[in-house]
Amino acid sequence: MNKPQFVIIDFGSQYTTIIARTLALLGFRSVITSPEKLKECLAENSPKALILSGGNASVYDENAPTIPVELLNGDYYVLGICYGMQLIAHLLDSSSVQKGNTDQKGYGPMKIRINNEERIFADLQTHLNAWTSHGDIVANLPNGFEEIASSGTDGGKVIEGIISPLGKIIALQFHPEVIQTDDDNSILKNFAGIAKCVPDWNSENAIDEIRNHVLTEVGGGRALLGLSGGVDSTTLAAILAPIMGDNLVSFIIDHGGMREGEIEEVQATMARAGIPINVVKASSRFLKTIGKATDPEEKRKRFMKAYRETFERIISKYRITHMIQGTLATDLIESGKKGKSALIKSHHNIVDFSIPKVEPLSHLFKHEIRAIARSLNLDAMIAERKPFPGPGLYLRILGIPATRNLIKTVQWADKIVTAILKDENCYDEISQLVVALDGTKTTGVKGDARSLAYSIIVRPITTSDFMTVKPMYLAPHVMERITNEITKHTLVNRVFWDYTPKPPATTEFE
Ligand code: XMP
Repeated sequence: MNKPQFVIIDFGSQYTTIIARTLALLGFRSVITSPEKLKECLAENSPKALILSGGNASVYDENAPTIPVELLNGDYYVLGICYGMQLIAHLLDSSSVQKGNTDQKGYGPMKIRINNEERIFADLQTHLNAWTSHGDIVANLPNGFEEIASSGTDGGKVIEGIISPLGKIIALQFHPEVIQTDDDNSILKNFAGIAKCVPDWNSENAIDEIRNHVLTEVGGGRALLGLSGGVDSTTLAAILAPIMGDNLVSFIIDHGGMREGEIEEVQATMARAGIPINVVKASSRFLKTIGKATDPEEKRKRFMKAYRETFERIISKYRITHMIQGTLATDLIESGKKGKSALIKSHHNIVDFSIPKVEPLSHLFKHEIRAIARSLNLDAMIAERKPFPGPGLYLRILGIPATRNLIKTVQWADKIVTAILKDENCYDEISQLVVALDGTKTTGVKGDARSLAYSIIVRPITTSDFMTVKPMYLAPHVMERITNEITKHTLVNRVFWDYTPKPPATTEFE
């Protein structure tokens, strides 16, 4: 597998993965590492360029994340962003960073003057609308560095960009990776050019790498592929089935928490693509194992237990030697297994089995998988399919134990909401629709009688990578149609709308 030319050092910014995604869009592979794991990461990848991300810390904090100063001695091309810029300046001259005070906090859109004769700003005008989010600032240039961007007036001027004497180290106070910075990704593209990186990501290469990776790991063994029906595992099946034949056994678990008709739909899609799959019926096992759990992490852990047990049975029955999973980089990041990110939630597929596990997609992001799926001519239904969590509707019954009847109620509600959104032509704009049942009973009046019933919560969101999401606001007449239909159910007398972005709320409720 080609080694990535970029190593991104994650100082905890919420935008770190967006740097990786933007590089991938520009055709470059990259790897994200924490400062603690940097040494191993550099040894493993020998990159040409380092990108130092933003982050919440101040260089003056007691345990401020840092890197060895030797990394700035010219062996690598370096781009520092926000905290990354402050850290570079501080490492080279400990008096250059000025601690932020409330008057100097930079947050939000900002007009930046740039020296567009510098190669990093090639193709840009002299003024750039950029996104800033920082407290500290670089007040004095480190020795030999030049200013290449600034904001504010002479009296209150802020240095927004600096470059080293030989031009190998560039640092920016604003965030070129986010779409709010109006550069059409040209700053990262220019940096790639300065660092002499050549595009190394396209779907054909990615498919070859995935195949080689799996064939090397599995050798002459027989592998089990756990399918969820989503884009990731389906794409993996489409890549591997033609080359592995009987050495690949693909199973989808009917755990009882899928949406209505979903298993049948997945079977039909796979049949059309000529990919053999098997279904294991295990809803009773999952319902029993999840039992009365209502705490989100407890529920996820119990789901993982049933998931592991179900696959272990298949492993021994079919004499399987390797477990292949379609785990993505995002799953690992949110499960606290990659970079510096904290555990947000335990993803059902981050689980160990009695046999070696192969995760050939673990360096890829959703948009890359979709690009691969499209290049394999997988149905539009698969390539554009909206994500759905592995533990399914078990995660969408809140505060009370999941039962078959409650799952049926959420399935029904999900189907109604989806149908109305499609009819109103707003379904395609939504990245994911979450329909959940809130287990708190509230009072209502139905047919002149008092009713005590549950509520349905509707959460339509848009996003490009699920690391951050925005609410998708529905028109009042659409909300009214949904409310009227959903409250016809005897178990439901209210509908709530969740328009909270991520952060602070995650996409799923649990
Ligand atoms: P959150 O809720 O963390 O979700 O914002 C981000 C994306 O991941 C999906 N999700 C899961 N997918 N197993 C999965 O396969 C899981 O355990 C899981 N939990 C969340 C979620 O639906 C969203 O698309």
